Amino acid sequence: MERQKIIIDTDPGIDDAMAIHYAFAHPRLEVMGLTTIFGNVFVEQATRNALFLTEQAKQHIPVSEGAKHPLRMPPNPPSHYVHGHEGFGTLPAPKPTRKPDPRPAHVFLSETLRAHSGEIILCPVGPLTNIAKLLEYDAEIIHHVKKLVIMGGAVDCAGNVTAHAEANIWNDPDAAEAVFAADWQIELIGLDVTSHITCNAEDFRQVASAAPVIGGFLEKITAFYINFYHSIMSRHVCLLHDPAALVSVTDPSAFEYEDIPLGVITQGEEIGATRPVDHRRAVRVAKFVDAEMVRKKFLDICGQCDTIN
Ligand code: RIB
Ligand code: CA
Repeated sequence: MERQKIIIDTDPGIDDAMAIHYAFAHPRLEVMGLTTIFGNVFVEQATRNALFLTEQAKQHIPVSEGAKHPLRMPPNPPSHYVHGHEGFGTLPAPKPTRKPDPRPAHVFLSETLRAHSGEIILCPVGPLTNIAKLLEYDAEIIHHVKKLVIMGGAVDCAGNVTAHAEANIWNDPDAAEAVFAADWQIELIGLDVTSHITCNAEDFRQVASAAPVIGGFLEKITAFYINFYHSIMSRHVCLLHDPAALVSVTDPSAFEYEDIPLGVITQGEEIGATRPVDHRRAVRVAKFVDAEMVRKKFLDICGQCDTIN
């Protein structure tokens, strides 16, 4: 059966790494490339980390570096307190030997999406700056993307950076507004569902036992992530934000959606909030999720990540 082609735009980052290894290992996905963005880490760190992840999984696919900062506003500091100073918890900076694709992310995206017109699902799981720059660079690209599956936003729930804003939207609200205003198909996997999907250390111990190399790496980096969540939620779990977006591509039946035209607040106290607006194409917002099904699907595939590659 033809595998679903995807490109992941990412700021790895611990949950990004979980999502990327899920995608690499999934038999029904073909990752055509990774594009990197600032957010959890500086974009240079994101590129280095993305290259390392491709080497780990023996996926010799392009990694193309994107924006260093938001479209308009000054950058927020990286969330090193959540993902570690190098993006992989307490692990030292990885030293990949692969080099990035020479094209900037928005050029790589335009050329690759056009070369496979209508076939690729674009999965942004970081701030949306590269996607907004893609629209500026190639307005017709809306006709060449199969759809976008975005991890971000908080529609009927509190944010995770402020009471109003989720991190990916908060890190570049102007970019998110431009992306939601464009006439293309968007599915949004936001905190409305991801804040209900958790894994614990025992889950990752079992993944590491089944897949000692990549699973062992995931066990190490998620220990830091679980400690962060314990410090704010008093539970020894982590939330599967980015993995949920990739599971929604492979197992959409686990999610229930509502069509809501969305806008983004781009200034003031509620900056980064995602709010219903009129007169634009609706976004398919994931409002409910079978959290146990997503958790199981994710862990089952991760348990195979050493053997698939
Ligand atoms: O709010 C969660 C999102 O912000 C995830 O993509 C996480 O990796 C961070 O980028
Ligand atoms: Ca991310």
